[in-house]
Amino acid sequence: MCGIVGYTGSRKVVPVLLEGLRRLEYRGYDSAGIVYQMDGEIVKYRAAGKLANLEKEVDDIIGTDSHTGLGHTRWATHGVPNEDNAHPHSDCTGELVVVHNGIIENYSSLKEELLADGHIFSSETDTEVLAHLIEKYLEKDLVAAVRQALARVEGSYALGVMWAREPDKLIGARNQSPLVMGLGEDACYLASDIPALLPFTREVIFLDDNELVLLEKGSYSIMDIEDGASLEKLPTRIDWNPAMAEKAGYKHFMLKEIYEQPQAIIDTVKGRVFPDTGMIQLPEIGLTDKEVKNIERIALVACGTSWHAALVAKYWIEKWAGIPVDVDIASEFRYRSLLMNERVLTIAISQSGETADTLAGIRRASSLGSRVITICNVVGSTMTREADGVIYTHAGPEISVASPKAFTSQLSALFLLTLYLGQVRGTMDREVRLQLGRALIDIAATIETILPVLQKRIRTMIEDFYTARDFLFVGRGLNFPIALEGALKLKEISYIHAEGYAAGELKHGPIALIDKDMPVLALVPQDAVYQKTVSNVEEIKARQGRILLIGTEGDHHLTTLTDNVLFMPEVLEDLNPLLYTIPAQLLSYEIANRLGCDVDQPRNLAKSVTVE
Ligand code: G6P
Repeated sequence: MCGIVGYTGSRKVVPVLLEGLRRLEYRGYDSAGIVYQMDGEIVKYRAAGKLANLEKEVDDIIGTDSHTGLGHTRWATHGVPNEDNAHPHSDCTGELVVVHNGIIENYSSLKEELLADGHIFSSETDTEVLAHLIEKYLEKDLVAAVRQALARVEGSYALGVMWAREPDKLIGARNQSPLVMGLGEDACYLASDIPALLPFTREVIFLDDNELVLLEKGSYSIMDIEDGASLEKLPTRIDWNPAMAEKAGYKHFMLKEIYEQPQAIIDTVKGRVFPDTGMIQLPEIGLTDKEVKNIERIALVACGTSWHAALVAKYWIEKWAGIPVDVDIASEFRYRSLLMNERVLTIAISQSGETADTLAGIRRASSLGSRVITICNVVGSTMTREADGVIYTHAGPEISVASPKAFTSQLSALFLLTLYLGQVRGTMDREVRLQLGRALIDIAATIETILPVLQKRIRTMIEDFYTARDFLFVGRGLNFPIALEGALKLKEISYIHAEGYAAGELKHGPIALIDKDMPVLALVPQDAVYQKTVSNVEEIKARQGRILLIGTEGDHHLTTLTDNVLFMPEVLEDLNPLLYTIPAQLLSYEIANRLGCDVDQPRNLAKSVTVE
C-alpha cells in the first residue's frame, strides 16, 4: 500500500527518488509524485497512473542540483486516482509537503475544523489534512509542529514531511504503517520498504509505532512522538542485494520468482534439517521443549496466499504433531471472540511482516495471553519485532503481487515446523521424520527439473482455455488449499473469474455451473483420496465440463478422462502441495501473459496491504 521514499545527502535527489519509487511500485501504482527543495522553494511533480507517466514528466529535470526530497507511489484509499489526489500534498503556502501511507480516520472532523480556520484544500485525500494541520501549528520548529499535529490524529500513518524554510531536513514518523530509514555516507534515506534502499545502502533502522525521525545530511535523531524523548536505535544490516530485486532477463517478476522457488526452498530448509539424523533444529521459535509439549492448540493467522499456506499446514500439524489447529483469515480473527491462553500458540504467516490485519491479529492474541511466533520473509519487519519467535523464510525480496516463492517457502517452513513439533512431542517415528525431512530437501531439485518442461507444455495447453470467463479449481485434502491458491492466482492476475473448491463439495452447489464452457482444473495425485477425486472428475465429465488434470506420472487412467493432463513426478504424499502449486502458478501466469495483462501490477491490488 503506497510507497514512500525520502532522501537528504550529497547525491542529486531526483534519480535517487525515482530509483526508490521504481523499487516500491509494487506497493501501489495509481499515481506517483516527487518533490524536492531548490533555492528555498519546493518543486513538485505528480502524475496519475503508473510511475512511467511521472518519469516522462521529469525527464528534463533528472540532473537538477537538489539534494533533498520525497517521493510517493499511491494505492488510493480516499479520493480517485488522479493527479490532484496524488502525493505529495501541500499546505496553503506550498512550502510544506507531506507524503503518507495509511488512513487518517478522523480526517473529516479535522478537515471541517481546518476549513473553518480558512485553509484551502485541493484534493479529496485524507493526507492533505495532515499538511494543513501541521501548517496550523507551524511557527519556527517543524518537529514541534509535526508532533502537535500527530497528537490530534487518529489512524495509521507512515509519513514524510519537508518544509522549504528548513532546507536539507526531512521528517519521518510512524504509527501502524511501516517506515524504515537508511544510513549512507553523508546521506539519510526514508522508505516504506527495504527494496527502495538496496541500491544505496544496506544499513537500516526500522522505526516503531509512535516514533519520529529527523533526518539531516548524514545525521539523524529519533524521538518519541508523544513526549519528545530521544531514542537510541541500532542499525540492522540487510543481506539482500540490489540484483535480487531485479527482473534478471525475465519478462515479469512473477515468472522470475516462480523459477526462484527451488533456491528459496533450499535456503529456507538449509541448516534446519539434518538429512543423516532426521533432526530438525528451530531454535528461533523461542520455545522450550516443555513449552512445545504443553501446546494445547495452534492458531494460524494470515491473509491471501499466506492463508492458503496455513490451510495446508493444518493438515500436516494435526496429522504429525497431534495438535488441533485453527486457521483464520486475519481480518476475521482480529475481531472475533478468541479463546486464548498461554498454551495456545498463535502463528502469523506473512511474507512482508507488515500486513495490517495479521499484525492486529497477533497483537490481540498476545494481549489475551497467547505465545506468538511468525513465519516471515522480511528481516526486521514489524511482525518479526513483535512476535516472541520468528521462523524466517529465506526467499529473498519478492516483488510480484502473486507471491509464488513466498508461498512455497512458507510451506517449507511450515513443514519444518510440523516435523519439529513431531520430534519434540514424540508423535513421529524417527524413521518417518528422516524420510519426510529428506523428501523436503529433495523437492527443490524436483521442482527445478520440471519447471521448464511444464512451462512449455502449459503455454501450448492454455490456447484452448485462455478466453474462458470462468474457471473452477478442485482438489481434496492437502490439495484443496492448492485449488484455492490456483484460483486466487488466476483471478488476480488475469481477471478471469475463478473459484477453488474442495472436490467433494462440488455437488453442493458449484456443479450447477458446469457445462461445455466451464473449464475445471482438478488436482488428482495418487494419494489417499485419489479415487474420490477421480469420481468427482467423472461427474464433471458427465456434464461436459472442460477438464484439465494434474496428476501422477504414469497414471494412464487420467488420459481417458481428458487430453489435457499435466503429469507430475511422484513424491511423498505430504509434499504434493509444494509440487502441485507449480503448474497452477504457471497456468495463471501463461494465461495472464497471453491476455496481455499487467502480471506484476494487477489492477486494484498491492503487494503489501498495510491498511485495513
Ligand atoms: C496481498 C498480496 C498477497 C499476499 C497477502 C498477504 O494481498 O497481494 O500476495 O499473500 O497480501 O501478505 P503477507 O505479506 O502478509 O504475506
